[in-house]
Amino acid sequence: MMKNLNNQRVLVTGASKGIGMAIARQMLVKGAQVVLHYHSTFDTAESVQQEFGKDKVALVKADLMEPKQSANLFFKATECFGGLDTVVINAGIFEACTIDTDWEKWFSSWQRTIRVNLDAAGILTRLSLEHFQNQKQGRIIYIGSRAAVRGETQEYLAYAASKGGLTSLAKSVARSFGKYDIKSFVIAPGFTRTDMAMEAISKIGEAQVLENLALNELTQPEDIAPLAAFIASGQMDHATGTTIDLNAGSHIR
Ligand SMILES: NC(=O)c1ccc[n+]([C@@H]2O[C@H](COP(=O)([O-])OP(=O)(O)OC[C@H]3O[C@@H](n4cnc5c(N)ncnc54)[C@H](OP(=O)(O)O)[C@@H]3O)[C@@H](O)[C@H]2O)c1
Repeated sequence: MMKNLNNQRVLVTGASKGIGMAIARQMLVKGAQVVLHYHSTFDTAESVQQEFGKDKVALVKADLMEPKQSANLFFKATECFGGLDTVVINAGIFEACTIDTDWEKWFSSWQRTIRVNLDAAGILTRLSLEHFQNQKQGRIIYIGSRAAVRGETQEYLAYAASKGGLTSLAKSVARSFGKYDIKSFVIAPGFTRTDMAMEAISKIGEAQVLENLALNELTQPEDIAPLAAFIASGQMDHATGTTIDLNAGSHIR
């Protein structure tokens, strides 16, 4: 049985919608206090705060394209509830850009992707490690992707590279900081029904996407959230460094 998350303080990045929102809600239902990070989508973030109350939910805005804002997000988040026990690095972008695109546009898209998906993750990791070393425990949960293990189609070269980097980062954290009681995990979703994926899914065709799954239905954000809460509960600590596939059987390894 899953332990409750009372006394757990969790930062979830990109929690204003999609997978991050589902993870934040699941952590709250299990009793955690959650710092809910958002960038441009305020209304849904605010509605979670109204539902669970300000003693349970704090809202922090940051553009993770900007390194200083990523660092400030972390400092503000540690102040909300007097520290953090788990950091969920979830915010990300998924821009399509084929290699026949004008060079400068292609490289701008590459850089935006790396800045949000990997540079911000690096900054948040570095600050989490300092914080967790001081408080002698902590967990980082990275939301990676099937793309890191399977590769992607050529319009998403930067995205797959960013998720590969994130996955290696998580493994290095697990190896280097386990002795400080710091644990690190990757959850690797396949296509999940969110705003991010729907453009690609509609291009491929939903029937074709379903055909490529072992299961009969597309993954929902709510299918991913319980695993994140379980990791935060500490009951998976001895699986530190692991990448857990959550892709409806679309890529089994
Ligand atoms: N959906 C899928 O099929 C799928 C598959 C594999 C992996 N993933 C991964 O799952 C994670 C969540 O994706 P999702 O599908 O839930 O996407 P989503 O619904 O598009 O949500 C993305 C989140 O990231 C935030 N974000 C985007 N750009 C940002 C920026 N510059 N600064 C700060 N925050 C920013 C958004 O904040 P605002 O809306 O407030 O701006 C939003 O909360 C991502 O890391 C993604 O790569 C998703």
